[in-house]
Amino acid sequence: MKKDFKILAIETSCDETSASVVENGRVCLSNIVSSQIDIHTRFGGVVPEVASRNHITAIDNVVKLALGEAHLDFRDIDAIAVTFGAGLIGSLLVGVSYAKALSYALEIPLIAVNHIYGHIAGNYLSFPDLVPPFICLVVSGGHTAIIEVKDFNHHEIIGSTLDDAVGESFDKVARVLGLGYPGGPKVDALAKSGKNIIQFAKPNDALGYNFSFSGKKTAVINYVHKLEQAGIPAPKEDICLSFERWVVDELTKKTIDACQNLGYDKIVVAGGVSANSALRASLRAECEKRDIKCYFPDFQYCTDNAAMIGSAGYYAFIDGVGIADMSLAPNPSLSL
Ligand code: KG4
Ligand code: ZN
Repeated sequence: MKKDFKILAIETSCDETSASVVENGRVCLSNIVSSQIDIHTRFGGVVPEVASRNHITAIDNVVKLALGEAHLDFRDIDAIAVTFGAGLIGSLLVGVSYAKALSYALEIPLIAVNHIYGHIAGNYLSFPDLVPPFICLVVSGGHTAIIEVKDFNHHEIIGSTLDDAVGESFDKVARVLGLGYPGGPKVDALAKSGKNIIQFAKPNDALGYNFSFSGKKTAVINYVHKLEQAGIPAPKEDICLSFERWVVDELTKKTIDACQNLGYDKIVVAGGVSANSALRASLRAECEKRDIKCYFPDFQYCTDNAAMIGSAGYYAFIDGVGIADMSLAPNPSLSL
């Protein structure tokens, strides 16, 4: 293995076209993210067919920009890493096809990366000394889970959502309040000037380490609809904060319980919702009380980006897992 092993990574699982060059799994030399948010905003959410078409037009340029920013040429790259699942089939197909073509033409290895392992690896870029084992809370638009990360490529799910992902529930609450897409950052921002005074109808929350967000989202939607029918304006800030606290308290409690009950001393958070300011404050405060170390990725590695795929790809490659060939196909429902 070369001393400075450079991976060109590609991520197109949803609505971000991203390419990055990562050295030895830890040093990000470039990370270009071309977001389609403006395109999808007018539809109130990601339209899969529109997303894949936009990946096709963006990817070539995004890869060239990533190489340029790293001051490198295709000849300097040692391997290609690509997200092959989970995600939108048409979007994944663009990245996987592009990565296969590059690997074939450059005669360098192709590494298939699970998107969620990528999110976890965003923390390896932010914290150069962080190594497993640890408990990881994965909170994205498509997944919510508490995972035991026993080693770089050894993950065990100990709890997950039984219905909606937490990011999805933020997006749906934002939509009923007319805040636009993606809703998580908008709910986060409005909650800052709200009061935690609304008691939504509580669904059954006794689920062990598992989660349910569908009932919480529905409770908020019903609350807003009742106000609308009565002609009363919705107190958006209070709704945002009351919903956010409800969700964040549960995420915090279950993650801390899992960490303590399973004998870990580190909690790592991954996925788009790790950008949430209330979750950051709550988990950090509770960890501090118990001498648990708490890690949140830098903001640039919270939401979808290719650098995290380059880091996860490096650890897959050195452990000899994830090495793919020209038969690699996207897997939209890939699990951990
Ligand atoms: O991980 P990610 O970029 O994509 C998936 O893999 O799904 O996560 C996107 C999700 C969206 O649902 C978005 O609303 C949410 O992360 N999100 C947030 C915040 N920033 C992004 N949710 C709450 N607060 C935030 N600040
Ligand atoms: Zn993601």
